[in-house]
Amino acid sequence: MRVLFVCLGNICRSPTAEGMFRRLLDERGLAHRVQVDSCGIGDWHVGKAPDPRTREAAARRGVDLSALRARQLAADDFGRFDYLLAMDHDNLAAMRALAPSETDAHLGLFLDFAGLSDRAVPDPYYGGEQGFEEVLDLVEQGVLGLLAEIEVRLESRP
Ligand code: 4NP
Repeated sequence: MRVLFVCLGNICRSPTAEGMFRRLLDERGLAHRVQVDSCGIGDWHVGKAPDPRTREAAARRGVDLSALRARQLAADDFGRFDYLLAMDHDNLAAMRALAPSETDAHLGLFLDFAGLSDRAVPDPYYGGEQGFEEVLDLVEQGVLGLLAEIEVRLESRP
C-alpha cells in the first residue's frame, strides 16, 4: 500500500502528515507494509527541509521531520500511489487537474478519513504559531482515521 500526502509547498502540512503517519505505522508494526511520501503542488521549495516552525511544532510532539526534503507532485505519482490525499480543496483541484482521466488511485481530501468530511487542514504558512498547532491537531486525527481505513484494505490483501 502506498500513500502520498499532498499540500501546496511540501514544507508544512504534508511533511507533518508524512512524519506522523510514519510514526503511527512504526508503532503498529506496519511500516513494512505501507510506503509513505509527501509532495507539493508548487515547486518553490523543492529540495528544502520542512519550515522551521513546522519542524519545531512536530518535534514538540516527538516527531523529527528534519530528514525530509520537498518535492513537487509528478505525473507518474498517479500510477505509483494507491492514495493521493490533499490537505485542502485547492490542492485537491490542482491534483485532479494533473491526474490522468483513468486512474485506480484514490484522490481525495485527507481529513475525510478523520470523520471530518469536506474539511481542510488550513495553510499555516502566513499565519502565527497557533496555525502550526492546529495542523498537528488535525493531522493527528487524520492519520488515525487513515490507519483504520488502510488496516481494512491490508486485511483484504494479506
Ligand atoms: P504547505 O504550506 O502547503 O503546508 O507546505 C505552504 C508553504 C509555502 C507556501 C504556501 C504554503 N508558499 O507560498 O511558499
